[in-house]
Amino acid sequence: MSKVLYLKWRPLDWDEVVSQDHVIKTLQNAVRNDRVSHAYLFSGPRGTGKTTTARILAKAVNCLEEEPENRPCNQCQHCRAVNQGEFLDLIEIDAASNTSVEDVRDLRDKINFTPNQGRFKVYIIDEVHMLSQAAFNALLKTLEEPPEHAIFVLATTEVHKIPATVLSRCQRHEFRRIPVEAIVTQLEKLVESEGLEVEPQALRLIAKQATGSLRDAISLLDQLAAAEAEITLDLAHQVLGTATDQAVLELVDALLREEAARGLDVLQAALERGSDPRHFARQVISYLRNVLLVKMGNREEVEIPTDDEARLLKHSQAFTVDQLLRVIRAFNQATIHKSSSWQPSLPLEMAFIDVLSEGEALSSEVTQETSQGKKKQQTRDQVDSGEVSGDSKRKSENTETSKPQSEEGSPSKAVHALRSWDQIIKMARDYNPTTQALLNSCTPLGLKKGCLILSFKNEIIKSKMENGDHLQTCRQIITKVVGEEFPIKCVIGQSKGKDMPQDVDPDGLVATAVRELGGKYVSDEE
Ligand SMILES: Nc1ncnc2c1ncn2[C@@H]1O[C@H](COP(=O)(O)OP(=O)(O)O)[C@@H](O)[C@H]1O
Ligand SMILES: [Mg+2]
Ligand SMILES: [Zn+2]
Repeated sequence: MSKVLYLKWRPLDWDEVVSQDHVIKTLQNAVRNDRVSHAYLFSGPRGTGKTTTARILAKAVNCLEEEPENRPCNQCQHCRAVNQGEFLDLIEIDAASNTSVEDVRDLRDKINFTPNQGRFKVYIIDEVHMLSQAAFNALLKTLEEPPEHAIFVLATTEVHKIPATVLSRCQRHEFRRIPVEAIVTQLEKLVESEGLEVEPQALRLIAKQATGSLRDAISLLDQLAAAEAEITLDLAHQVLGTATDQAVLELVDALLREEAARGLDVLQAALERGSDPRHFARQVISYLRNVLLVKMGNREEVEIPTDDEARLLKHSQAFTVDQLLRVIRAFNQATIHKSSSWQPSLPLEMAFIDVLSEGEALSSEVTQETSQGKKKQQTRDQVDSGEVSGDSKRKSENTETSKPQSEEGSPSKAVHALRSWDQIIKMARDYNPTTQALLNSCTPLGLKKGCLILSFKNEIIKSKMENGDHLQTCRQIITKVVGEEFPIKCVIGQSKGKDMPQDVDPDGLVATAVRELGGKYVSDEE
């Protein structure tokens, strides 16, 4: 069995430690000038070289090479012993598993013994923030009067957990996250000398996924190398779980074409397949971020799976920067929204619809900027909503729709319908998924003059609902559920009023929507 790559690739000398020049220079100078301190604190994210550097320091202070410049030499007896993990005067303590006072007391007793082999006994205490308060106190005593022959290197990923009293006794060094570029360079060396076959784009993806930890990057590469002889970008996406969900691409397509019902349908289907709403929203954001980067001319910064490339380029041409920012913002909102238990998909749907409600701006900009096809689409939408000529100002609040205006539904049945709204939406799926998506995107407000009022956020979705058989289907389902047919009226929500009409059940869906979702009761009489 070969050694795991990141251990095999542990730097043995100062100049092999990358991206921590500020730390390395200071330590190297201290060794040269024989001014090594007795207590160091190395802090920083994991996998950035803290343990590695501590070992190089331990080696350098005990190296037998005459010229201090050349320490560690990695040749002498002591250097080799350290490299083989057999040097008696290098003591590594993992605070995560030795947290008790006794362990530290034990240590205090031991450090008074002089070194066995070298000039200095070096104690590396890893994850030092895990020590208990009592253990810290014991450690502090040691740090206050360290014996001449002892050097302590404390290492931690969580420096804020270290008591100020300990901090003040140590010379502090902060290890930084390693930049993507430096990780890539390091991985390239490793790939070459290990004889691996890796696509450059795959290396970048790995480097980014490692978020600054070189150890993580090397581990990821190791995993991928074990999976397949040739590491392609697509393989990397697959193993790292970073491929863009097909549904995300379809949603963005729907957004671009302002196909509200289709988009809601895509969302619904994705969530039914088990996608987590927040995760889905994050995927939308990260995809659009890529679109944005490509748009800004930073194509080489994006690792795109081969299958997605054409679409991503298309999207980067079709959207304006402003639109992208707006969509990203809306979906970002959905990731922080505390999802409601009865409609977990709601924040996502709201984000989607919010963006579409600004559709006027969306389509006009796109028309000017790029596609002719888009213009046609827009015109078609206007025809759909009866607005092909004249003022495009929405005048739809009082648009009376579907048929029997005179037949009045009874209030108690209406309340029943509202209470069963979830069920009605569920049933709609069997009739027509688009109807379901549309119902999902409206709020039932209650009964007014015998009509069931459905509030839509914008004209586009409202007019989709009014065209085709959707209202008819909706009436059918309601009839099935409550045993009575209601005329349905679609309105656009605009009023900010919170007051609810008399005939709305305070425990019902409408009231719940208003209370828990920040919904608004919309009067259709304004
Ligand atoms: N700055 C660095 N330069 C070169 N290799 C590094 C660096 N940081 C981490 N590594 C790689 O990651 C492995 C683990 O690093 P380590 O020093 O144990 O990290 P830390 O102690 O900060 O968690 C090393 O063996 C090496 O392969
Ligand atoms: Mg470490
Ligand atoms: Zn040496």
